[in-house]
Amino acid sequence: MVQLDTAPWAERRVVLGVGGGIAAYRAAETARLLIHQGINVHVVMTAAAQQFVTPLTFEALTGNPVHHQTFAGGDRTMTHISLVRQADLLLVAPCTANLMAKFNHGIADDLLTTMYAAKADIPVLLAPAMNPAMWQHAATQRNQQQLQNDGVQIVAPQEGSTACGEHGVGRMASPEALLFAVQAALTPSILHGQHWVINAGPTAEPWDAVRVLTNRASGQLGCLMAEQAVRLGAQVTLIAGPGVRACHPSIQRINSDDAASMLQACIAAAAGCDVFVATAAVSDYRFAEQHSHKLKRQGADSVDIRLLNNPDIVAHIATMAARPGRVIAFAAESEAHCTHARSKLEKKAVDAIIANDVSHMGVDSASGWWLTRNHAEVIPAGDKSTFSLCIISHILELNCD
Ligand code: C5P
Repeated sequence: MVQLDTAPWAERRVVLGVGGGIAAYRAAETARLLIHQGINVHVVMTAAAQQFVTPLTFEALTGNPVHHQTFAGGDRTMTHISLVRQADLLLVAPCTANLMAKFNHGIADDLLTTMYAAKADIPVLLAPAMNPAMWQHAATQRNQQQLQNDGVQIVAPQEGSTACGEHGVGRMASPEALLFAVQAALTPSILHGQHWVINAGPTAEPWDAVRVLTNRASGQLGCLMAEQAVRLGAQVTLIAGPGVRACHPSIQRINSDDAASMLQACIAAAAGCDVFVATAAVSDYRFAEQHSHKLKRQGADSVDIRLLNNPDIVAHIATMAARPGRVIAFAAESEAHCTHARSKLEKKAVDAIIANDVSHMGVDSASGWWLTRNHAEVIPAGDKSTFSLCIISHILELNCD
């Protein structure tokens, strides 16, 4: 099997440059998240950054000395060269307009700017944070564009209220988004150039204006799989059922409600894609009669409801003219897991199916079986993140056939 490292970023060295902006306090949270993932963080602060947060904060969080002087007393090892040369990645968060201008023009008048100039060919991520007018300023836009042309990745600032009381684009990306960007930059892009479409979550079949037929699926496995695929370099479209959590913004998300709208969204997105993964728990039935108003309680002891079969989304995708390169389904079963899953593999004409137990719905861990026409293999129990990476490994193996 293609072995994918569950945490290729662990033990890697990241230099975290902290610029002088109010968002410096969020750099502390970013450092904490990176450390938590097993990343070795070395902080470099500008003079202005130390007006907002003390070096001690970062020393306590990272367990490493914090650097801020180009010519530290008795420093014969040339910190500006050695620290950045040993690094796997340089992240500057917050990155001020001033720092961007200096990076772009090769100005090296303090430790951080000198490091940028002296770095080897490593990924550089800049997380701008500034007043919205400063961000929009033609000079800042020129600088960020040129830095991108030079291969630097800009982790886009967000819209919102800034510390100066103005509203607009300029808030630093969240610490979680910065962690994701670092993880992605330290993960080999083996899915680069591929388009994956994943559906996730429950469907909700309307009965009347307020009542729906749905199930306990959270969509967590589909979200994790989408995020893993993005980290591995794929372009990902997620067709999300109701209530599915927010996913990384670089995932194209299409919301859907019932099986009919999910089917239409899947057909449109999956035509000709490389891989389609059907993690969604699509309702097998919909109401024969749907009411636009709220039904009133009736006098009788019971109500008869007629249900109609829903279309089978994955079977439709697996047999359409513009069939994706690979189509993968799931089978949540309560007994005879592999037997039932194997018959669905045939019936739905998919390339592979993952059999698992219904008890995994809505919980954080999973285990199961990977089944193709001529192969069966246990997927060991683990958290859903590891489980989803294991499934991606199997899909890649299919692609090698
Ligand atoms: O037949 P069953 O519902 O057990 O099959 C599960 C697999 O089929 C899952 O991959 C699910 O996403 C997919 N499915 C579907 N459309 C349906 C029912 C299930 O795509 N209407």
